[in-house]
Amino acid sequence: MCPHCERWTPLFQNKWLSKNGQKQALSIKPEKITGSVSIEVVEPDSDADFLDADTGTVASKSATCLFCETPTGTDEIMRQGMAGQLREVEYAKLTTVNGKRQYVAPAKPLDLQGTSGVIDHDSDRPEEFVDLHLPLDMNGIRHLWAIQYGIRTVFDLFNPRQRRAVQEITQAIAKRRAAIDNNSDSEEEARFRYLALLMIMNKVAIYSNRHSWWQSNGAFPANIFVRQAISMVWNYVEIPPGSAGAGGWISSSKWIIKALEHLRSIPHRAEVNQADAAKTSIPDQSLDLVVIDPPYFDSITYAYLSDFFYPWTKKLLQKDFSEWFSPDVTPKAQELIVDRKHKLAPAPKTGSFFALKMSACLTEARRTLTDDGLIILMYGHKELKAWIALFEAIRSSGLRVTVSWPIHTERQSKFQHSRVDALGVSCVLALRPAEKKNTPPTTVDAQSFRAMASDRMAQLKTKHPELDADPVALSMAVFPLVLDDYMHTSVVDSDGIQVGIEELIDSVNL
Ligand SMILES: C[S@@+](CC[C@H](N)C(=O)[O-])C[C@H]1O[C@@H](n2cnc3c(N)ncnc32)[C@H](O)[C@@H]1O
Repeated sequence: MCPHCERWTPLFQNKWLSKNGQKQALSIKPEKITGSVSIEVVEPDSDADFLDADTGTVASKSATCLFCETPTGTDEIMRQGMAGQLREVEYAKLTTVNGKRQYVAPAKPLDLQGTSGVIDHDSDRPEEFVDLHLPLDMNGIRHLWAIQYGIRTVFDLFNPRQRRAVQEITQAIAKRRAAIDNNSDSEEEARFRYLALLMIMNKVAIYSNRHSWWQSNGAFPANIFVRQAISMVWNYVEIPPGSAGAGGWISSSKWIIKALEHLRSIPHRAEVNQADAAKTSIPDQSLDLVVIDPPYFDSITYAYLSDFFYPWTKKLLQKDFSEWFSPDVTPKAQELIVDRKHKLAPAPKTGSFFALKMSACLTEARRTLTDDGLIILMYGHKELKAWIALFEAIRSSGLRVTVSWPIHTERQSKFQHSRVDALGVSCVLALRPAEKKNTPPTTVDAQSFRAMASDRMAQLKTKHPELDADPVALSMAVFPLVLDDYMHTSVVDSDGIQVGIEELIDSVNL
C-alpha cells in the first residue's frame, strides 16, 4: 500500500511479455478515481511504446505509486512485507489457441482496492501431507534476499495453488512407491525409479513458486535458482505443473530422462557417498587421485538454497536414507562457504572459517592419498581475498600447487586490463604434498620475486605457445603458481618491509 495516498498500488519491474518475434507487452493504466488498473495486451511499435514496456513501478531503492506517483523507499516495502501486508493479483494469462500462444489480460479493470481479485496467502487446508513451514536461515540472507520482505519459511515461497500442487504431487509419488516396488526387479531399481520421480518433481517446483519470473527475451520461464539465490520477484510467473510447456511435468520429465539416459550410457559404475569432506571413512593412503570441486568462497550457499527442496524430499526419502534426513533442516554448520555479512545475519561464516575448513578438507584428502597421489581442485573467484583464503588452506595442509589449467567454463572474459575479470575464470589446480618440491627460501626480495614470476610466465609460454594468444588463460595459468610461491615465502622490499600480493601481481602484469 502506498503510504502517501493509502491506495494499493501494483509493483512490477517492466511490462514485457515477449521481446522476440512478435513483440508483446502489457499496458497497465491507473484509473485514478476508482483506484483500479486496466490491463491490456499490446504490441509495442513506437519508441514511446517501447519506453512504456520498459517502465516498471519498482526500481532498486524505491517504488513509485501508480496513482499518486510518489516514490516510496524499499525500507517501507520491506516493513510491509515483514508485517504480512503485501498482496497479489493476476495480471495476465498465457494460453494456447489453435496451437498459437496467446496472452490474455483480465476482461475488466482490476479492482486493487477491494479484495475480489487478491490471491489469499493463508487459505491452506489444515491436514497437510508435507510440512512446508521449514524456516529459511537468516545467516543466508545475502543469498535469500526475499527474507527481508517477510518470506520466512518454504511455505511462503509458494502461493496457495502452488502449495496444493506440492502437497498433491508429493502424495502421488509416495502412493506410487508400492507399485514401483512390486514392478521392480531389485530394491536398487525401485529406489532409482522412485528417485527419478522426485527429480522430476524438483524440476517442476523450481518453476512453480513465487520467485520464478518470465524471461521476455525468449518468452519462457526462468527458474527460481537462475541467480543462485532466492530474490524478491514482483511480477512472478506461475507455471501450472500440468502445463505442456516449459516448467510443466511433461517437459521436466523429458529433461530428467535425458540426463539419466546420458548417465546410463557411461560404461562404469560409481559409489556415491554423502559426508563432510573433512571427515571421511576412506582408508589412509588408498587413493591415487582425489578430485575436489569445492564451493567457490561466497559464490553459492548450497545448503541455504537446498532448504527449498528439503520438506518434500525428506518426506519421500526419510525411510530409504534415514541417517541423511534426520535433521529438520539441511545441515549447515560444516558447509565450506562464506556468508556475506548482513546486519540481520546472527553468525555469518567468515573468510577465516573458509580457510580453516578448506585446510581440514585438504588435510583429509592428503591422508587418503598414496605416495604418488595427486589432488585436483577446481576454483574460480573474482576477488583476491577468495584466492588467498584457498591458498592459506593449501599451505597449512602441507600442499603445493604444481599446475594451473584455466578453463573457460562460463563465458569468455575480456582480460587485458582487468585482473578482476581474469580471476573469475575457473582453474583446475594440481596439488602435491609440499615435501615433493624443494623447500622455498623463507625470505625473498621483491625484485627476485618478480623475476621468479616472469620466469614462470616465460617457461609456460615456451611450453604452451598457444597461451600467447589468450592473455586471460596465460594469466590464470601463472597466477596460482605465483600466489603459491608468495604464500610459502616472505617477500620484502629493500627496507625489509613486507610487500603485499596485490602490488606484486600488478607489477608482474598478471
Ligand atoms: C561447486 S559445487 C560442486 C558441484 C558438483 N561438481 C556438480 O557438478 O554438481 C560444491 C559442492 O560442495 C558441497 N560442500 C560444501 N561443503 C562441504 C563439505 N564440508 N563436505 C562435502 N561437501 C561440501 C556443496 O554442498 C556443493 O554441492
